[in-house]
Amino acid sequence: MKDVGQRAAEVTALKHALPYLRMFQGKTFVVKAGGGALDSEPALRSLVEQVGALHQLGVRLVLVHGGGTQSTELLRSLGAEPRFVAGRRVTDDQALRAVTMILNGTVNTGLLAAFRAAGLPALGISGVDAGLLRAKRRPAVTIDGQSVDYGHVGDLIGADASVIERLHAAGFLPVVSPLAADDSGALLNVNADSAAAALAIALRAEKLVLLTDAPGILEDPADPRTLLSTTDLPGLRWLRETGALRDGMVPKADALEAALRGGVPRAHVISYRTPDSLLTEIFTNEGSGTLVVADLAVLSAAEKAAEDAHQRATDGIA
Ligand SMILES: Nc1ncnc2c1ncn2[C@@H]1O[C@H](COP(=O)(O)OP(=O)(O)O)[C@@H](O)[C@H]1O
Ligand SMILES: [Mg+2]
Repeated sequence: MKDVGQRAAEVTALKHALPYLRMFQGKTFVVKAGGGALDSEPALRSLVEQVGALHQLGVRLVLVHGGGTQSTELLRSLGAEPRFVAGRRVTDDQALRAVTMILNGTVNTGLLAAFRAAGLPALGISGVDAGLLRAKRRPAVTIDGQSVDYGHVGDLIGADASVIERLHAAGFLPVVSPLAADDSGALLNVNADSAAAALAIALRAEKLVLLTDAPGILEDPADPRTLLSTTDLPGLRWLRETGALRDGMVPKADALEAALRGGVPRAHVISYRTPDSLLTEIFTNEGSGTLVVADLAVLSAAEKAAEDAHQRATDGIA
């Protein structure tokens, strides 16, 4: 038997969540999970449980997955050494085959199996299906004075919202593999964060949530105590200029900026390692990771109070 205090706490929690439930019903959230979330059984189960809860609460959810670590593993097992420049993969013919096998095969199907075990109507779809993600091959770019050809890598031109809208209307929970194609049908590897941002913009999503292995955006990537609970476009620019954003956080920052400029009001970076991080970020003012908005001035008074409290707490640590 639960004691009276515990029951009261449960009712209080439900009351706190009610305004958010009202606000988010029928709204679209695009959630992107990094490949690492799918490698650990507890993280995968927690992801499916939380995404499933949002789906059942009436949020129109789209789950986009990565597969970087798994693609790297497959390539290494084939005797090839994967190459990255500025946090993005260089995709030669062999890497494209590996990425296709991993994204549209192992990772997408693995997620669908986990959703099936939870009794949720997830449906797998890649950016190639029905023209969902349109991309063009990235021309060679100059980085630090060097010319870099990323190979079969696409820059997204756009996403066809109607494909997802039809799946949502039919009650499905779309699970998107971020492979894209150009108009001639050439397959292109696109960054999963960028794919999620393009989908969030096309769907006029309420939120873009990037689930990764870091607790959120850190001012110092080596120190988890420097977690920023909120930031905005000028804040991101500052972090970029001071060199605080490295490796995989660079395409994430690009995706966050694109989404915010493209009309998505709120973007979040949270950890898939923290239990219930997705529900905490969505249903509490304090959140669990980093909330990114275009301009911090638009935050509600309650969120500002939570931010001040967090600031005092972290100042206390430092
Ligand atoms: N300022 C930063 N804050 C948080 N993480 C950062 C930062 N700079 C670099 N990173 C790195 O970015 C990684 C997340 O990107 P990535 O490895 O591509 O993961 P994902 O598979 O989720 O896309 C983190 O694990 C962290 O090591
Ligand atoms: Mg990444």
